[in-house]
Order: sequence, then structure tokens, then C-alpha cells
Amino acid sequence: MKVAVYPGSFDPITNGHLDIIKRAANVFDEVIVVVLLNPQKKGLFSVEERLELIKRVLKFNQNIKIECYNGLLVDFMKEKGAKVIIKGLRAMSDFEYEFQMALMNNKLDPDVETVFMMTRAEYSYLSSSSVKQVAVFGGCIKGLVPDEIISDILKKSQSSK
Ligand code: PNS
Repeated sequence: MKVAVYPGSFDPITNGHLDIIKRAANVFDEVIVVVLLNPQKKGLFSVEERLELIKRVLKFNQNIKIECYNGLLVDFMKEKGAKVIIKGLRAMSDFEYEFQMALMNNKLDPDVETVFMMTRAEYSYLSSSSVKQVAVFGGCIKGLVPDEIISDILKKSQSSK
């Protein structure tokens, strides 16, 4: 069985992430979405809250699992017996950061391969950070994130002002 892991901060999950998850689930037998800590980013939602939002959005998908992990991605992969990391690429600006991370993960575990999927054009400008910025000032985030989690994001962003 071909298992792929889709890691990220997901703070919060966006429609761009969802698109990559669903496309990956069409290619692999199982996709494990894992919420990890990015030490370079200060989170808005706790890891448990991010997990709950993702679970709410992806509840009906048989071959998609959702987890969180406190540690290195390669250690999580080893625990799961997975060898493929899925990452989405939006623009050239993502490339350097993603390239570095793919090389580091491969250095940490040479059996691990990173597979990149190109984002759809309509999501190429979309990021969790820009969603949070719009939400803080009460802007419209419809179409950027799943409808079921819009009110959670607006409430949390505005209470963090
Ligand atoms: O959505 P992001 O913030 O771009 O995702 C980055 C993430 C969480 C995948 C990355 O920071 C990560 O893998 N964190 C766990 C620690 C780790 O394994 N780092 C890889 C070596 S640099």
C-alpha cells in the first residue's frame, strides 16, 4: 500500500491545502495529513484546534487520516512506514524553502522522497498567513477556507488583536 504524508502547520487549513490533499488522495492509497510545529511560526490556533478544524472538514474521506506529531517529520514517517512526503508548490518563492526542507529530510532519512504538486492557479496567492491577516480586520475569507470553519477563524483572529 502506497502511503503519503502531507505535513504542514495548517494554522488554519485553507482551500489550497484541501485541494492538494484531495488530489494526493487520488494518487496514493492513503494520505496522512499531519499537523507539525514549525518553530519559525507563531501559531494562532493550538495544534489540537488545528486538528479539530481539519477533521471537521475532511470527515467523510476514507483514505485520508489526520494526525498531529511533536517532533521531526522523518520520525513520524518512520512510525507510519511511509516514504513519500507531499508538498504543494505555489510559486517560485516557495521553491527555495521547500527545496531546502526536502534536502534536509532526505539527509535525515535517505529513504524519504518529497513529491511536489503544483497548486491550482486560483489558489496560487493563498496562504494561512494571508487568511489570518484578512480575518483579523474582519475581511471576507469566503472561498479561501472551507465554509464550516470561517466563523472559527474570524472569532479567533479577532480575539487575538
Ligand atoms: O506549513 P509549513 O509551516 O510550511 O510546514 C512546515 C513543516 C511543519 C512541515 C516543517 O516545519 C516541519 O516539518 N516541522 C517539523 C520539524 C521537522 O521535521 N523539520 C524538518 C527538518 S528542517
